[in-house]
Amino acid sequence: MRKKIVAGNWKCNTTVQEGVELAKAVNELVAKADAKNVVVVLGTPFTHITSVVSAVDASLINVAAQNCAAEAKGAFTGEVSAAMVKSTGATHVILGHSERREYYGETSEILNKKVALALANGLTPIYCCGEALSIREANEQNAYVKTQLEETIFNLSAEDFSKLAIAYEPIWAIGTGVTASTAQAQEMLAYIRGLIADKFGKAVAEETSILYGGSCNAKNAPELFAQADIDGGLIGGASLKAEDFLGIITAY
Ligand code: PGA
Repeated sequence: MRKKIVAGNWKCNTTVQEGVELAKAVNELVAKADAKNVVVVLGTPFTHITSVVSAVDASLINVAAQNCAAEAKGAFTGEVSAAMVKSTGATHVILGHSERREYYGETSEILNKKVALALANGLTPIYCCGEALSIREANEQNAYVKTQLEETIFNLSAEDFSKLAIAYEPIWAIGTGVTASTAQAQEMLAYIRGLIADKFGKAVAEETSILYGGSCNAKNAPELFAQADIDGGLIGGASLKAEDFLGIITAY
């Protein structure tokens, strides 16, 4: 059965000390809660990863980077490679977030390199896709997301593809307080699963974890997560408070 995943994306928030406190608080709550069927991931800034990995129980909490370099190593000042991320003890890496595509010019070409390096280094990519409001308003979201997938992770072998998770995050729902309706989210995730089935076969599609992201919180998570194709969430704002995040983890 495919995994249920609740992944926090802290973005550019918290100092190392604050992040460690937050991670410890999440760890403590998860330890007390009955959340064994959910893979919990904390997507922290690079600077925090090593400290957060040491602060949590690895059997309860996984740690993710929010990015990695498109090159393996060398003269790329300021970059952090997939091998470096792996060496911290992180297990996952968020790739292709719309904020990185929009503000840092991440193209499909760049993302293909990042995904390949993440996989080569044994990291699980959480690969993001999703459309802007203008595309949704023109009702072209399906074609847009299909292209995002076809230009990137659909070029992988079925074996490599089966190692990653996908997060659908409509840009108009990120940090806006506007959540996609449960029907909109389920419809898109079912559509994505159908595309995976066409490309890699039904078995691979059934095993792929597809997450929803965009103003997901403890209040709307139960209804979202009850949908057949929603396998969890990628959580921004609500992952910055341990109690709020726990409310999402236990929404199943
Ligand atoms: P949000 O962010 O939950 O604050 O909307 C989600 C994300 O960008 O991953």
